Amino acid sequence: MKAVLPAAGWGTRFLPISKAVPKEMLPLGAKPVIHYVAQEAAAAGCTDILIIINQSKESIRRYFEPDPVFEAMLEKAGKHAELAEFRTPATLARFQFLYQPEMRGLGDAVLLARDFVGNEPFAVLLADTVIAGESPLARMVELSTRTHRSCVAMEECPSERVSRYGIAGGVLDSDGIYQLDSMEEKPAPDAAPRIRRADGTALRHHAFAARYVFTPEIFPALAQCPAGRNGEIQLTDAMRMTMGKQGFFGVPFSGRRLDIGNPKGLLEAADLMETLG
Ligand code: UTP
Repeated sequence: MKAVLPAAGWGTRFLPISKAVPKEMLPLGAKPVIHYVAQEAAAAGCTDILIIINQSKESIRRYFEPDPVFEAMLEKAGKHAELAEFRTPATLARFQFLYQPEMRGLGDAVLLARDFVGNEPFAVLLADTVIAGESPLARMVELSTRTHRSCVAMEECPSERVSRYGIAGGVLDSDGIYQLDSMEEKPAPDAAPRIRRADGTALRHHAFAARYVFTPEIFPALAQCPAGRNGEIQLTDAMRMTMGKQGFFGVPFSGRRLDIGNPKGLLEAADLMETLG
């Protein structure tokens, strides 16, 4: 399977450092955040990874591309352990890079991957989010490949935070998967959809958790989505269209989503580093 890692966002919550260093390149130990994301994709069977960047995020490209000149220097110096470390990022998968010309939102970033993806299901991992503990991705890849439907990782979300995330409602099935029937981007808490048991009782709110596997039908849906008031194409709008046509699964998982797009999230991820990837 192929994977797309959108990493072209502004990173305004990480100013001023994001002026010079992409938030995805901030370190967790000796590796940048995006290394753990690529590693998670590779562990779920993704052999080809497209990273969406922009002109000020060239360091992401440099990190994942081989550097024959430096490698030859390390080789010549007999620094074999260091050479192995140096080569690690480029060996995780086959990498490609694409520039998002304007920051027109996550939906626009995913739409740019159309030619790379072709006509197969593909994974999307937000490059500013790491998963501590078990990743849902391998299960999602298996589910989408078997059913030819899209799915999104989901985690419980406290009511006071539902207005910050994409929230979905649907029915919990006997495999512990959610058959989704409604999706809202940043809803008001009292209007937010809920996951329900078969007997109709509601669970706590559930939010999208930065990992998706889409069928290629997401692309015509994205192409039809008008940009919202902020000029951004919302991925949730295209997901809702796909849900209406094909159905859509929500996949819970036992790990934790850590948003490193803000300083507090990065510190939390650093504390949990042993459990990443
Ligand atoms: P976010 O909204 O969390 O990222 O997008 P942001 O815009 O960089 O953050 P702030 O709000 O300014 O601090 C989620 C993911 O989508 C990517 C981001 O890089 C991040 O991985 N993204 C977002 C794009 O690739 N392109 C966009 O136009 C917007």
